[in-house]
Amino acid sequence: MSGKNVTDMVLADAAGIARAARILESGGLVAVPTETVYGLAARADSAEAAAKIYAAKGRPDFNPLIVHVRDAEQAARYGSFSPEAAALAQQYWPGPLTLVVPRRADAGLADAVTAGLPTVALRAPAHPVMSALLEQVDFPLAAPSANRSGFISPTCAAHVLASLDGRIDLVLDGGPTTAGVESTILAVRADGSIDELRPGPLQIGHRTAGGETGARLEARIQAPGQLASHYAPGKPVRLEATSAEPDEFWIGFGAVQGDCTLSASGDVNEAAARLYACLHEAARAPQPRIAIAQVPDNGVGRAINDRLRRAATPPA
Ligand code: TXA
Ligand code: MG
Repeated sequence: MSGKNVTDMVLADAAGIARAARILESGGLVAVPTETVYGLAARADSAEAAAKIYAAKGRPDFNPLIVHVRDAEQAARYGSFSPEAAALAQQYWPGPLTLVVPRRADAGLADAVTAGLPTVALRAPAHPVMSALLEQVDFPLAAPSANRSGFISPTCAAHVLASLDGRIDLVLDGGPTTAGVESTILAVRADGSIDELRPGPLQIGHRTAGGETGARLEARIQAPGQLASHYAPGKPVRLEATSAEPDEFWIGFGAVQGDCTLSASGDVNEAAARLYACLHEAARAPQPRIAIAQVPDNGVGRAINDRLRRAATPPA
């Protein structure tokens, strides 16, 4: 009698995946696990379906979406792949890598998906559920992270419902994701140069030793969605904390135990996998503030620190 919309959550088995495919065909929204975070999928060839993603997330319309495909062959229908881009796809797909390449004039994607840009972001994910879904439908899937815009990304089905319950048609529950932070985004320019737009699970051409970066890897432009405040738990966040005040929920790393630890053994990969779960726990905790221990900047630690800096930036 409450009139509140609720979103169905089903196991990501064959029946669940088939149901998701039908909802997507008819232009609906389904949250789907990938190896990085849960994505909020809709058919990328439909303006109405893409509009639903922006509405459900409260996402600004200038922030384009990643288009998920089965493989490089399907990706080539939507984007122009230079030899450099093709080599990256060949080496890292399926996997947590998104390639931003020139959008093909005949791509047939909804304009809202690329937010009017001449480029398109493409990714072939490695998760068995997302892969099975992409095999069953004959269109690509636009899928941002399945959270309200600016809020903490989801690494399990419950995290999706924490901010999107009642706003989407279905959640496919495939358990916790493994990589834990969003894909590495590389823009491949017409001249073959490569810019890292977002650090992620894959370190490509980026050497952290001595702060040196790959010769051609310069962050000249930003992914439009890489806003200063993002991944925000809704309370003040203090970074590099070596102790916590009584009113702070403490997220630890290594020797710093905290109320919740990213990785007791000091492993950055485990910390990436647990990052958003710890932030969700901190958001739910009674303490009004959050303190987070220092995380080293090596490997996927760069992506963790990128997300933590944005989580600590108050919304404008
Ligand atoms: O791991 C991931 O990438 C997840 C899963 C679901 O695949 N998706 C994800 O989507 O993180 P989202 O929407 O949360 O982040 C996509 C980022 C945004 O920062 C957006 O601005 C950027 O990709 N992006 C999309 N298209 C772009 C383009 N043509 N040029 C530059 N940046 C683009
Ligand atoms: Mg996101």
